Amino acid sequence: MAEAAVDTVDTVTSVPVAVVGAGPAGLMLAHRLGRAGVETVVVDTRTRHEIETTQRAGILENDVARDLVETGVSDRVLREGYEHEGVELRFGGRAHRIDFKALVGASVWLYPQTDVFVDLADARERDGGTVHFGVSGTEVLDVTTEAPRVRFTAADGTRHEVRARYVVGADGSRSMCRDLVPEDRRVRYGKEYPFAWFGILTEAPTSAPELVYAHSEHGFALISQRTEAVQRMYFQCDADENVDDWPQERIWETLQARVAGPDGFRLKEGRVFEKTVLRFRSFVQEPMRWGSLALAGDAAHTVPPTGARGLNLALHDVKVLAEVLLRALGDEGDAALDDYQPQALQRVWRAQNFSYWMTQLLHAAPGGSSYDLRRQLGELDNVVATRAGRAYLAEQYTGWPTRAHD
Ligand code: PHB
Repeated sequence: MAEAAVDTVDTVTSVPVAVVGAGPAGLMLAHRLGRAGVETVVVDTRTRHEIETTQRAGILENDVARDLVETGVSDRVLREGYEHEGVELRFGGRAHRIDFKALVGASVWLYPQTDVFVDLADARERDGGTVHFGVSGTEVLDVTTEAPRVRFTAADGTRHEVRARYVVGADGSRSMCRDLVPEDRRVRYGKEYPFAWFGILTEAPTSAPELVYAHSEHGFALISQRTEAVQRMYFQCDADENVDDWPQERIWETLQARVAGPDGFRLKEGRVFEKTVLRFRSFVQEPMRWGSLALAGDAAHTVPPTGARGLNLALHDVKVLAEVLLRALGDEGDAALDDYQPQALQRVWRAQNFSYWMTQLLHAAPGGSSYDLRRQLGELDNVVATRAGRAYLAEQYTGWPTRAHD
């Protein structure tokens, strides 16, 4: 057996749980464990500034918003977020509102993921939690033993080793932790889509009071909001689109064409100050746990942003995982971890299905026929014109109760 190289580190720390990835999943896990008196060290290759300025989706399930408040992260979501009791589906140039409140008694919160991150990072700082941003050379070692380690170089150049009982890989869609599950012991399920989203931020007044998911023969568009003065919008584009080919006029022309209709609806235009192409795919890796390593959030599964599930799903993972880790660190030991995947995975596959379904419902497949388009309009009509269709969308979009359905 090869001996581990004994290269020097500047500090060695021992904590029950080391976390790779300081996005919302990693930080919320650390916060939940911290509240129960369990110390963590969280590391991320990105700087805090990089994470804060990367635009992500903006819809929180009611339970997720409530958990942020009730676990003492912050109540800013209640003051600065916007509660939405429905969404609009727009097709054939007409608006159809899905009234979540009336259909399933639920609502969602418009509160950007970047704000969730800021709240969590501030809470970690306030509570004295250890988070290293901007690290390099991260290595996760010995995950099949009871003494896994994480080694990294901190932003100031010092070398650190964290000795833990468990390591959590919450290192996002380009996770290196998930590669630690040996190839012959893991299964990767995935689906690529032949299109992407072009996302913008614009300085403009709100065009609609709630989110508008628009289907058109030219492709999909989503009208979302950030504040009274800043709006977030997306439109379906080619997978290899280049933002430099899109001057502001072309962006507005495209968006207006996708929402146009006999009702004369028009978007309020403004200066576009951020443009990004978002490629997306559906992905799940099983198992979500390997020895002393557990995967959470995008590291284990990603969804297209159409159903606004990604962040909500990641925060559900860590809710389950925190509970399981506390039991494992208490009397139960490793056996408690066996409960993680079954409890997390049911919601993962439900969300995979819903995100896929919303995506195929609203996007124009390149090379699609006129039959495909008419069939899609038939499906959309089934969604908005039947109570079962509306309730299905409402229930999936607002999230599923943590307890089993009756
Ligand atoms: C957003 O506001 O960025 C957003 C909202 C809903 C989605 C995706 C993105 O489905």
